[in-house]
Amino acid sequence: MNHSIGIIGSGLVGSAAAYLLTLLPGGGDVILVDIDQERAQAEAQDIAHAAAFGIGWHIRAGTFEDLAGADLVVITAGVSLKPGQTRLDLARSNTHIVTSITEQILRYAPDTLLLLATNPVDVMPAVLVERFGLPVGRVIGTGCALDSARFRERLARYLNVAAPSVSAYVLGEHGDSEVLHWSAVHVADIPLLHFARSIGRPVDAEIRDTITREVRTAAYRIKEGKGVSNFGIGGCIARLARAIMADEQVVFSVSTYLDNVLDVERTCISLPHVLGRNGASRPILPELDADERAALQGSARIMQQAIAASLA
Ligand code: 2OP
Repeated sequence: MNHSIGIIGSGLVGSAAAYLLTLLPGGGDVILVDIDQERAQAEAQDIAHAAAFGIGWHIRAGTFEDLAGADLVVITAGVSLKPGQTRLDLARSNTHIVTSITEQILRYAPDTLLLLATNPVDVMPAVLVERFGLPVGRVIGTGCALDSARFRERLARYLNVAAPSVSAYVLGEHGDSEVLHWSAVHVADIPLLHFARSIGRPVDAEIRDTITREVRTAAYRIKEGKGVSNFGIGGCIARLARAIMADEQVVFSVSTYLDNVLDVERTCISLPHVLGRNGASRPILPELDADERAALQGSARIMQQAIAASLA
């Protein structure tokens, strides 16, 4: 079956996501929608030429009307982070933008799954579920899927192993209060500390703090250097879209709206979810040590306040 994926926003994030999607196996139709139609058309054409070196992906620019029957729509549009800002500073303007875009999407594709990459990416699922009464598992924030990749990449580099050998997740807000789930990290099924000691690369408190800080502030450093952070999130969107469309049932740390987690109500943070054709499963709360539990609860509270403010 040919999948149909809409991408709203053909800026550097939307176009990176579209391009990286066409490099993945599977194939399908991608429709790029942007208020700047000329830009969407140019990006779609450019990516279509690259996709012609592969098999199975067709990309074109379109309008909201062309999203009729889309299986998945990804929203990347919105104001992006400027130096000195945190993601939460974007809540007011981007909530407005994403809400009006979703109104348009649902007019033509009422049953589509939504994948949100616009920051603050954990506020958006909550706002859309509240505003449009959508089922929670159908509205997914990319959340800490990207941070988890950053965590794996950084740790793999320190240990000098390939990233897929590292099982490591980041939980909570995709932002300053995120929680690196160190207590659960395994390498090739071996607990991290044991593995690291065995290869002579021990993970002490200093290394841990350095890696935590680098993962948490990765986007700020990338933005300082090149003005935009687009390939990481583009690759993340492409990978999640592929997992959903191909019904992979792979577990990712993404965000969905939560009635209650760790005694915090009506919040939205990243936790492991199984992704497939029906969207996201219910979240799985992993075992946490006392510090991680307190930090995750704090993160859930921060998001609860940001969501309440955005809905006010
Ligand atoms: C990132 O983490 C800016 O949220 C975006 O790259």
